[in-house]
Amino acid sequence: MSAAVTPVTIALTGGAGMMATLLRPYLAGAGYAVRLVDLAAASDPGPNESVHVGSVTDPDFMADALNGATAVIHLGGLHREKTWAELVSTNITGTQVTLEAARQNGVERVLLASSTHAVGFHPTEAAARDSVLSPRPDTYYGVSKAAVEALGSLYADKYGMKVVSARIGTGGERPGNLRTLGSWLSPADSFRLVEATLSKLGAPGHHVVWAVSANTRGWANLDAGKRIGFEPQDDAEAFAAGVDTTARDEWADLLGGAWASDSHRVGVDNYPHLAVK
Ligand SMILES: NC(=O)c1ccc[n+]([C@@H]2O[C@H](COP(=O)([O-])OP(=O)(O)OC[C@H]3O[C@@H](n4cnc5c(N)ncnc54)[C@H](O)[C@@H]3O)[C@@H](O)[C@H]2O)c1
Repeated sequence: MSAAVTPVTIALTGGAGMMATLLRPYLAGAGYAVRLVDLAAASDPGPNESVHVGSVTDPDFMADALNGATAVIHLGGLHREKTWAELVSTNITGTQVTLEAARQNGVERVLLASSTHAVGFHPTEAAARDSVLSPRPDTYYGVSKAAVEALGSLYADKYGMKVVSARIGTGGERPGNLRTLGSWLSPADSFRLVEATLSKLGAPGHHVVWAVSANTRGWANLDAGKRIGFEPQDDAEAFAAGVDTTARDEWADLLGGAWASDSHRVGVDNYPHLAVK
């Protein structure tokens, strides 16, 4: 009789959130044990999932949540513009606490959720030329994501960790408008990025990559991702029939889209109608 194989354990912060919820079936299907770390209790945990309720800003809670884990996928945080104080606390301090808990627990592989908005004031065409654009945030949120990347760089260089900062375009089950036909990251491709982080990254270091699918209308240069073994397979074009492709995207010239416009105010929740997280 062969001994039971202990599954690889992943801590998934933001485990109750939208992107994590779409990722979970892929992680479960691949046999990972997943800790769902979030302020909210993630629903319907499967046999290899456990629910850990607390804040990524709490060092004791995070030290416990990452104890014995092999990797952390850090999606927990605020996903849109908020006040400076909220973004500093949740996105910047929360990432520092997560990385520090990883370091203390010997968790050397970390995937950090960055965003297009860290580079939102670059012209869209620049993303095709240069696969790793320098930070050019369009909001305080974008600044917080640039700081997330800087923290990842520090922990990789200082402590020999393997850190990927993923500039996520637009997550979701499917693209919903003309803009997202270019920026969509499919759930299956988000899993491919996790797999690259877990098993293909070799040497220690910090890698900034686009987390965008292989979209026909994509603007992202995917070379940096390919260098770490991330090969997206999906194409938003498969959903184009359900999208109004004639509507002009008036903000298409800048990577941040409408978030880089004057009407999208800094330090203010521009989407108050969405549920507060
Ligand atoms: N969805 C996108 O298109 C997109 C694009 C770019 C980047 N991102 C980033 O990806 C990540 C996930 O995005 P999402 O769309 O799933 O967002 P989401 O809001 O659905 O999920 C984020 C989760 O983080 C949790 N959270 C918030 N503060 C927390 C704290 N202090 N401690 C623990 N958990 C906390 C929330 O409860 C929520 O469940 C975010 O970091 C976001 O900035 C998302």
